[in-house]
Amino acid sequence: MTHLADEIAKRRTFAIISHPDAGKTTITEKLLLFGGALQMAGTVKARKSGRHAASDWMEMEKERGISITTSVMQFPYGGRTVNLLDTPGHEDFSEDTYRTLTAVDAALMVIDGSKGVEPRTIKLMEVCRLRTTPIVSFINKLDRDIRDPIELLDEIEAILNIKCAPVTWPIGMGKQFKGIYHLHQDRTYLYQSGQGHTIQAVRTIDGLDNPALDEAVGSLAQELREQLELVLGASHEFDLEAFRAGELTPVFCGTALGNFGVREMLDGFVEWAPSPQPRETTSRTIAPAEETFSGFVFKIQANMDPNHRDRIAFLRVCSGHYERGMKIHHVRIGKDVTIANALTFLAGDRTHTEEAWPGDIIGLHNHGTIQIGDTFTQGESLQFTGIPNFAPELFRLVRLRDPLKSKQLQKGLQQLSEEGATQLFMPLNSNDLILGAVGILQFDVVASRLKSEYKVEAVYQNVEVHTARWIRCTDAKMLEDFRKKAYNNLAMDGAGNLTYLAPTRVNLSLTEERWPGIEFLATREH
Ligand code: G4P
Repeated sequence: MTHLADEIAKRRTFAIISHPDAGKTTITEKLLLFGGALQMAGTVKARKSGRHAASDWMEMEKERGISITTSVMQFPYGGRTVNLLDTPGHEDFSEDTYRTLTAVDAALMVIDGSKGVEPRTIKLMEVCRLRTTPIVSFINKLDRDIRDPIELLDEIEAILNIKCAPVTWPIGMGKQFKGIYHLHQDRTYLYQSGQGHTIQAVRTIDGLDNPALDEAVGSLAQELREQLELVLGASHEFDLEAFRAGELTPVFCGTALGNFGVREMLDGFVEWAPSPQPRETTSRTIAPAEETFSGFVFKIQANMDPNHRDRIAFLRVCSGHYERGMKIHHVRIGKDVTIANALTFLAGDRTHTEEAWPGDIIGLHNHGTIQIGDTFTQGESLQFTGIPNFAPELFRLVRLRDPLKSKQLQKGLQQLSEEGATQLFMPLNSNDLILGAVGILQFDVVASRLKSEYKVEAVYQNVEVHTARWIRCTDAKMLEDFRKKAYNNLAMDGAGNLTYLAPTRVNLSLTEERWPGIEFLATREH
């Protein structure tokens, strides 16, 4: 195997999807513990200290400021190199989360066993579906009284429309939680409470019929045997192909807080999750093993520290090899740039990158020339696809306090929308500027950054827009007709695309019915 092929085969790049409080942060810490990046554990927790101050966005930004360095965590495990891409916990930054999911090859879904499938998990699964990302599931908090595990599997199958293949199965729960049984290994792992901060030495018992199991867990052993018969009848067997196609999820269980069941999940994860996958571009499919470097930017994060005005652009390497000091081609602006000081994210050691391989993320210092969706290559002119904008659900009309500053306002909003901080819409029938966001706090961030970086003060008013849809139609005459008839609801977005701003949900469905030849898209490619 060549060095490149070897590095690719080793890589696992993923993100965690979950509803807030399901245990994402806790499990991240344990993963880092197994990855030998102990010193990170405290950092991850510290990051969450500001989470109750959601009304105070400066606090959130401080939190995000720290999280630039924890946005990507790379650690070695089991001969693999794992890249864990963090996703903002707060739903107000869900656009960032959505786009981060376009840069991974797999996702870990963490479910709170007492709550089951929750709204944000449903939404994030929908986003994973856009790219049929393989999903590994972890049912968490077994040290509490959770819901019947069989019922939980049913719920995952029914609501998330994915087949469940249990891999580890709980023995008891809450105060009676005794351990997990590994269906593939035919082995029981016995739980000991109070060892969450360490890598436990776990006692195991081989064989389901082993009398040692009855000795260890009492009547729960027989219950387990009976339950497993039921489970095996009702669920699916693990199938690698179905998993890779996003149709089936292996299900593990345990307690992140007690650091139990996590290691078995991680073992399964690095074994089954795909290495970096080929990526589509506007002209051809790029295989990771191609010798020449390529990658795309999926996230831009402003550094809120006033002394460090720069922004970090997060680039996913798709093919080839990145080396410090290398010259790469910024396709959209058609320029070569030398990348001398990209960041990598080896957990606990965040020095400048020497090299990076497909599946890795590098952080580029961005002084305003990089946008979300930008492609970098070694000269070839192509553009990666599949890095969408998501239709905003919240809208505000921007009014300037000082009308003479309209140029700065336009410039500021244009840049902030290119960074993905907000989306900008300009109605055809007026000179208004309408901001769109997925989370309400995005508006606060924009207001504050406009003020500090562009010296523009504005007021933000409610506006009667329910949602936006990007318009696509290949029939020029029909499009022209539509433009005339729907003129008062049409706008251009920040990148010059025609958008329909629907005042109500009903209006949107009626308009869609009336214009069957026109596509109303909820996502837009960069
Ligand atoms: P999140 O990132 O998904 O939002 O969740 P996080 O890990 O912060 O976990 C949310 C809460 O659930 C935390 O408690 C955490 O300690 C708890 N938790 C996580 N995993 C388990 C588990 O396996 N068992 C039990 N019993 N609890 C678990 P908190 O009180 O909100 O925070 P903290 O004071 O412990 O930091």
